[in-house]
Amino acid sequence: MERFNLDGEKIKPLTICLIGGGGFIGSHLCEKLLYKTQHTAIIIDISSTKIKHLLRPYSCWFGRVQFHEINVKRDTLHRHLEPLIAASDLVINLAAICTPANYNTRPLDTIKSNSVDAIPVVEFCIKYKKRLIHFSSCEVYGKTIGSFLPKDHALQNVSELYLLKEYDSPCIFGSIDKQRWTYACAKQMIERLIYAQSALHSLEFTIVRPFNWIGPRMDFIRGIDGPREAVPRVLACFTGNLLRGKPLKLVDGGQSQRSFCYIKEAIEAVLLIIENPARANGKIFNVGNPENDVTIKQLAELMIEVYADVTKQPASKFTTIDVSSNNFYGPGYDDSDKRIPDMTIINRELGWKPAMRLRTILKLCLDHAINEYKSAIKNECDSLLEFHTGYEYFSGSE
Ligand SMILES: NC(=O)c1ccc[n+]([C@@H]2O[C@H](COP(=O)([O-])OP(=O)(O)OC[C@H]3O[C@@H](n4cnc5c(N)ncnc54)[C@H](O)[C@@H]3O)[C@@H](O)[C@H]2O)c1
Repeated sequence: MERFNLDGEKIKPLTICLIGGGGFIGSHLCEKLLYKTQHTAIIIDISSTKIKHLLRPYSCWFGRVQFHEINVKRDTLHRHLEPLIAASDLVINLAAICTPANYNTRPLDTIKSNSVDAIPVVEFCIKYKKRLIHFSSCEVYGKTIGSFLPKDHALQNVSELYLLKEYDSPCIFGSIDKQRWTYACAKQMIERLIYAQSALHSLEFTIVRPFNWIGPRMDFIRGIDGPREAVPRVLACFTGNLLRGKPLKLVDGGQSQRSFCYIKEAIEAVLLIIENPARANGKIFNVGNPENDVTIKQLAELMIEVYADVTKQPASKFTTIDVSSNNFYGPGYDDSDKRIPDMTIINRELGWKPAMRLRTILKLCLDHAINEYKSAIKNECDSLLEFHTGYEYFSGSE
C-alpha cells in the first residue's frame, strides 16, 4: 500500500543501516520498519538476541532485513562498516554503552562508545552523502539551573529554569570527580561534531534526544538474561526485584525526577523523522512525555501498585529501601534533578504528541515481564528451595 509523508509526498522505500539496531530501541524500531513499512533494515550489532524474531527465514519481510554481527570498536579500518554505510540511503546510529552503572566502572568504554566510535560513522556519512539520524540523550542537558537555587527560592517555580529546550537550555554537568557525567559529556561531544560538520560539509542530520523511553526488552533481568553482577537501568532493576519479591532500591531516597515515555509511541516519532527529512534535517529533537514526570520514588510506588494489581497480591507485600548512591554506584555518582522535555519543536515540525500515561505503560511492561520471565523465576525459586528453607529468599533481604 502506498504511504505518504506529512507533506503529501509518496514515501519511497529506503535502505536503512541501523548501527546498534539489536538493542532495546533498535529492536522496536526494526519491528516497526519491517511490519509497517517497505523499508529495508541493515542491522549492525554485537548481539541479535532481541531481534531474533525478526530474522526468521520465510517471514514475509525476510528479504528486507540483514543482520551483521559486528563490533564497531573492533572493526579495524572499518572494513565492514564502510561498505554497509555506502550501501544505505540513511544511517541511524544507536550503538552505545548507556547504563549508568557502567559510567564509573567502564569509563573508557563509555566515552569511546558514545563519542569516538561514532566519529567514523559521521565521516562515512559525509563521504558517501548519506543522511544521519544520531541517537544522543536527554543527559546532555545535565542538571537544571533551578537545582542550583536554594530550595525555597521564589524562582524555583519558573518553568524556564527546569524545562529543557533544544536550542535554549545550557548543558550543565557536575565537576570532574562526578564521574556520572562522562556519558553525557561524550554524547555532547559527538552532537557538537555532527552540528559543526553539517555546517562545513552539508551533512544531512537529525539528533534525537530520548527522555527515558521504557517498554519491553529494555536491558535485562539480572541472572536470567544478563549477568547477575551487572546493574541495568531503573525499569529493569525494579522489575527484577518485583519478580523476585525483593525491595526496590531507591538511590539517595529516589528524589530525582524523570519523564517516562512508552517505547512504541517514541518509535512513531522516529518514523516521522525518517520519513519527513525536509522537516527533520538539521534539527535536534527532544522525544519524551512531560506528562509522565515523576520522582524515582513515585515510579517505584506506582510499579508496586500495578504489579500487585496484575499478580493479585497485596501491595503491602512489596517494599522500597533507601540506599546511598555511593553504595549502589560507587563514588563519584551525581544525578540530574529534573528532566522535563520541552516538546514545542517536535510537535510543531512533526505533529508528534505522546498520549500514554505512566500507569498504562507500566502495566504493559510488567505484563510482558511476567510472561517472559515467569518460568525462569519459578525455576530459580524451585532450585533455591531445594537448598534453603525458602524463608530468606521470600523475605526479600538483599
Ligand atoms: N532508552 C532510552 O530511553 C535512551 C535514553 C537516552 C539515550 N538513549 C540512546 O539511544 C541509543 C539506544 O539506546 P537503547 O536504550 O536501545 O540501548 P541498548 O543498550 O539496548 O542498545 C544499544 C545497542 O548498541 C549495541 N552496541 C554497543 N556497542 C557496540 C559496538 N561496539 N558495536 C556494535 N554494537 C554495539 C549494543 O549491543 C546494543 O544492542 C543509545 O545511543 C542511547 O544512549 C536511549
